[in-house]
Amino acid sequence: MNINRLVETMTREEKVALVSGYDQWHTVEIPRLGIPSIMVSDGPHGLRKQGAEGDHLGIGISTPSTCFPPAATSANSWDPGLLYAMGQAIGEEALQEGVSVVLGPGVNIKRSPLCGRNFEYFSEDPWLAGELAKGWIEGVQSIGVGACIKHFAANSQERWRMLNDSLVDERALREIYLAAFEHAVREAQPWTLMPAYNKLNGAYCCENQELLESILRTEWGFEGATISDWGAVNDPTLSIKAGLDLEMPASYGVSAQQLEEDLVSGRLTEHALNKAVRRVLELVAKGQAQKREFRYDADAHHGLARKIAAESAVLLKNTDGVLPLSKEQKVCIVGQFAEHPRYQGTGSSQINPSRLDTILGLLEKEKAPYTYAKGYELEHDEINEELIADACTLAAEADVAVIFAGLTARFESEGYDRAHLGLPPSHNELISRVAQVNRNVVVVLSAGAPVTLPWLDQVKGVLHTYLGGQAGASATLDLLYGKVNPSGKLAESYPLRLEDCLSSEYFSYSRDQTEYRESIFVGYRYYDAARKEVLFPFGYGLSYTQFSYGELELSATEQLDSDSLTVRCKVTNTGDVAGAEIVQLYVGRDSSRIYRAPRELKGFKKVYLEPGETQTVEFVLTPRSFAYYNMEIRDWHVEPGEYQISVGASSRDLPLVASIKINAVQQDVEVPDYRSLAPVYYHLDRGDIKISQEDFQTVYGRPFPKSHDALPRFHGNSTLEDLQVTLLGRLVLRFAKRYLWKMTGATDEDDPLWIMTWTSTREMPLRSMVAMSGGTIPPHMVQGLLAWANGERLRALKLWVFG
Ligand code: BGC
Repeated sequence: MNINRLVETMTREEKVALVSGYDQWHTVEIPRLGIPSIMVSDGPHGLRKQGAEGDHLGIGISTPSTCFPPAATSANSWDPGLLYAMGQAIGEEALQEGVSVVLGPGVNIKRSPLCGRNFEYFSEDPWLAGELAKGWIEGVQSIGVGACIKHFAANSQERWRMLNDSLVDERALREIYLAAFEHAVREAQPWTLMPAYNKLNGAYCCENQELLESILRTEWGFEGATISDWGAVNDPTLSIKAGLDLEMPASYGVSAQQLEEDLVSGRLTEHALNKAVRRVLELVAKGQAQKREFRYDADAHHGLARKIAAESAVLLKNTDGVLPLSKEQKVCIVGQFAEHPRYQGTGSSQINPSRLDTILGLLEKEKAPYTYAKGYELEHDEINEELIADACTLAAEADVAVIFAGLTARFESEGYDRAHLGLPPSHNELISRVAQVNRNVVVVLSAGAPVTLPWLDQVKGVLHTYLGGQAGASATLDLLYGKVNPSGKLAESYPLRLEDCLSSEYFSYSRDQTEYRESIFVGYRYYDAARKEVLFPFGYGLSYTQFSYGELELSATEQLDSDSLTVRCKVTNTGDVAGAEIVQLYVGRDSSRIYRAPRELKGFKKVYLEPGETQTVEFVLTPRSFAYYNMEIRDWHVEPGEYQISVGASSRDLPLVASIKINAVQQDVEVPDYRSLAPVYYHLDRGDIKISQEDFQTVYGRPFPKSHDALPRFHGNSTLEDLQVTLLGRLVLRFAKRYLWKMTGATDEDDPLWIMTWTSTREMPLRSMVAMSGGTIPPHMVQGLLAWANGERLRALKLWVFG
């Protein structure tokens, strides 16, 4: 494909058509010029390939494929190599299915444990998320299939995700919310990147020139194409001008018409359009060139899914060595998750698994003796006394009771957030009651995000399998019986209470704007700064063996801010079984002019050790490992002075500590000092902290953008919910409800698919309705609805009747 020639030859009509999708999943084909169409599909923990109509919420059926563990799970492996292998396997499946780009990975930072989509994201820490994303992207792309890193950026809540404006101060943005994207883009060059639904600091991500041009392309050197999140385009012209290349899905002519009009009026230049056209053509050419016949090995992929699930489970508690179990023990299995596992979340990432292992199925196959009690119902979360009584009777007769419990499907979904950190009452009650009749209780937890465990003291063992993917049950049995030694560590902190999380008061509280008042203090950065006790710290996880740490060595005790530092230490397996340890390195400072977290993860390595074996682990820290983002110079800067290097087994277990003094080469850089203007950020350990709007305003450093609420009339960004003040709005919503009820096949309002579809529809801006309905709602219907709601009845009727 000679791209320059093509751009010269294409008509305006062809150009405006090419920068929008053809349907849900394909780019536009232009046979006259031999421009083929390529297909993109979700991701990220498998391939969700649908037919042309399809949907962006995982409602319709998709081709069976391997359901690997979602990102929240695989992150606990802390193993970019495993993520690479997963990426390769997904790439192979995409290749076989003729899919050129897989929409993943998702690297949004877990600002709050409540975000409904946290199961699709890696971590609260950008270094960990960035390294894992890099592995995944390189794996997919090694096969000749593109990755699409998403959702760029600060898309940290599901509620009102299509309208909400994330107000994030520049330091938090650079150090926390952009850093994983930056790392993965610089290191792995994903073919594509997906700007998110939300606004960031006043501009929709798809219209955010600062984000898409200045930062992404100019600073980071991104060479690929940007693809909007599905239905995220607000104004196609502003988007193209800002650096968006491809709008997805099809806008059914709406955007093309607007782009053509704007080309005529001069609001859009041909030059800007050509940039996007060129990048779409480059993407199509790349995708097309790599297409080839391929057959993947489904058994091997299932095996890989099992390995990843096993490497990612986290042993949270193991009193008296209750685990591993032995085949001689009489085991009582409790909990319906043993029959119907929870292995992924709901929404656009939902894979139709090629097969699904279950605990009971596997035990049957092995002809292993066991008893089983359902324990709770799946359809709702209320306590069922009868089922609990049955479970207690059987558990009392067993040597050990293994309870499969956790979050049921309606807790974790795209489209809405959780309301609390609790498990279903039926699960909590079951565990407490079984623990009264059997002293050896092991809980196998399934949940893609932090939960509270009120019964923790009553049980001996907790194995957290997160969401294990289609082979999760096999992996669980491997771990329970010691065939595999648990080695996963938490990629996020578990607070004792939701209120302990600094963002909890400033999360998901208004439709229009969300102030990220906690700034850089996300996850362990806050708990450590506040010296708060946690249920389980970031980086925590046990093993069936023990490890000891020693002989920390730094390549220097004093160096320049432009130098790299090599850090070595020794790790020994002191137990009597082989196992893997995830060695973590944190960098921190005791006193500083800027506010900062006491320590930040800057390196990690997973090492496999035979009993008695010692290995030397080496890390190389670059100047960036010590840097903060300086808003005055709009660049990274290393503050001169003394830094602590801590190495150990978790963010709260760091036996090795050494200091390094860093001297400045780069003189005369003012280090921002907010000690008098926003002192709260320096004293987070003084009791229960509230961050006032004034404090946040100081570090935000400019006026807050205007909120949408100010607009007097209904407009494209009004939602069906907004229109409820009009009779027509109420009628439309009632009709939509009936239609969606049928479409989802829901039978009760607690069905996660229903909650997601219904919430997304109510909160969707009207401008997205044409695209999101796959063109079944024509543009003039939506315009008529708006006109009617604004009292322009005649115009509305004209639109409805004449189009
Ligand atoms: C999600 C994206 C997904 C897209 C296509 C959107 O709703 O936010 O992550 O890739 O749909 O299904």
